[in-house]
Amino acid sequence: MNDISSRILAWYDMNKRDLPWRDTRDPYRIWISEIILQQTRVAQGYDYFVRFVERFPTVEALAEAAEDEVMRMWQGLGYYSRARNLHAASKAVVAQGGFPTNYSAIRMLKGVGDYTAAAIASFAFDEPVAAVDGNVCRVWARLFGIDAPIDTTLGKRMIAEIAQELLPATHAAKYNQAIMEFGALQCVPKSPDCLACPLADKCVALAEGRVEELPIKSHKTKVTPRYLSYLYIHNAEELLLHKRVANDIWQNLYELPLIETAEPMDADRLFGHADFEAWHLLMPSYLYKGATAGIKHVLSHRVLHATFHEIELQGQLPCPEGFVCVRHDELHRYALPRLIERYFEGLAKK
Ligand code: ADE
Repeated sequence: MNDISSRILAWYDMNKRDLPWRDTRDPYRIWISEIILQQTRVAQGYDYFVRFVERFPTVEALAEAAEDEVMRMWQGLGYYSRARNLHAASKAVVAQGGFPTNYSAIRMLKGVGDYTAAAIASFAFDEPVAAVDGNVCRVWARLFGIDAPIDTTLGKRMIAEIAQELLPATHAAKYNQAIMEFGALQCVPKSPDCLACPLADKCVALAEGRVEELPIKSHKTKVTPRYLSYLYIHNAEELLLHKRVANDIWQNLYELPLIETAEPMDADRLFGHADFEAWHLLMPSYLYKGATAGIKHVLSHRVLHATFHEIELQGQLPCPEGFVCVRHDELHRYALPRLIERYFEGLAKK
């Protein structure tokens, strides 16, 4: 084994966190943990993981579950296509007679990319494939002074080659966990403690005073704003919800009636908007109770600005096709985007 790998393994033995998905070789559990951790921090993902595998302890249990229940278990984690893909992939796994046992077959599962396939194949089966996540990228970019931006094809290829080159032939499970943990805890993005680093004498970035500068990102992804005007239409007993069918991040979650625009909308513009006209026709009289200030919700390639407009009715709620009337005390049964859930939490505190 090379010197770098053995120092990282020694560091891992001293510093590793005790995490529930590290006690297992079960590819199903490792898969669930990796999907949760794709876009969620360990501190937040931990409880979700424990609850998820308690409710769905096997891939068969997940495959048999109703979609709404899977979405509800995911509620609050965001990036809901992860849950939909997990559910679809669990059915495919059961149909093919069990969990795939090598990198190429695991990579075919819906929602599983290069990193996740390598993580599962190595953690569960010790297959010697390098698992390169953001933490690992940072370690190699600094250690070898890689100038190519890590979000470009060239940068990714350079890092992947280094990672595969340094991977020991045996114990891929432990080694991949170790290098990821090293990136997460020691070689951190801001102000790493390089005095305590076991690789300090080999680090190009440290020698050149470029630790804060590396890794470089090109930031080519453009962020487009969208304005969401949600209508909280309710009477004393019930409110209106809508199941989102659009093939997007919130597909199959429930949401409030929505008018979406490319420009910001205040109450005056809302009342003048063509989409609101349809609601006007369904609600001959109502009390407009006001709007929240805009709430900014940042996603990887979108910035959402949401405003909630409260509309109170005295009598029966209108319930057009595609909408459901839900009792206030039944609202907790519906999986909502975190953004909307936070709005209701705010109302409850009032
Ligand atoms: N982030 C992604 N996968 C992880 C893992 N297996 N352990 C800790 N952090 C992670």
